[in-house]
Amino acid sequence: MGDVSLSFAGCDFLPLPCGALFWPGQQMLILADLHLEKGSYFAGHGWLLPPHDSLDTLQRLERAVRETGARRIAALGDSFHDNDGPSRLLPEARMALAALMGSVEWHWITGNHDGESAGTLGGFVHAELVIDGIALRHEACPGIPGPEISGHFHPKVTISLRTGGRVTRRCIAMAGQRLVLPAYGAYAGDLDIGDPAFVRALGGRPRGVVALSGGLLKVDASGRPGPAGRSGGKELAA
Ligand SMILES: [Fe+2]
Repeated sequence: MGDVSLSFAGCDFLPLPCGALFWPGQQMLILADLHLEKGSYFAGHGWLLPPHDSLDTLQRLERAVRETGARRIAALGDSFHDNDGPSRLLPEARMALAALMGSVEWHWITGNHDGESAGTLGGFVHAELVIDGIALRHEACPGIPGPEISGHFHPKVTISLRTGGRVTRRCIAMAGQRLVLPAYGAYAGDLDIGDPAFVRALGGRPRGVVALSGGLLKVDASGRPGPAGRSGGKELAA
């Protein structure tokens, strides 16, 4: 687990390499865009993909819960790829999700892909959730002032290495009082933080925060390293 925290809206957070954001003060894991059952959705439309994406995603989440000791989870929408996703969970993935939901207080935020459908599995369902003055919602709302943490855009960044070559990693997009979390789902596609959609959504050109096993790498929207994090800047291994 990364040991470098990210200060945001007066609170300390731990971005984790798996893609989740841990909020120690709330004992809460926040994650976005699980897109569970995306594989079975595409299989139903003639695109055959291995049907193991849900279990892979949930096993990563189970490890994150175990390693952080989180007692609450907030899933920021598009937790399933479509409204029928909950009914297509295979038994092993269904049991893994049920075990997770039985071990923590679970909050589903509604998304544009899944609406309220995940709530059929239990947990609390919200259009948005405000904790300590920070809004947790699916998609950034630039017209609403105040700090927010959202998902929806699946941010990634391509970084030029000092040793040559380039690597692309999922990242947090951060601008002013707004954070956009990377997609957590195994099959979710990603959007580069240099895309104009981020400026429209966040009201400014974002920086990227890449969580590594030993700390945070902060870059600008072009992937150039920015001001070092608390642990100092880190070179990304390919
Ligand atoms: Fe979305």
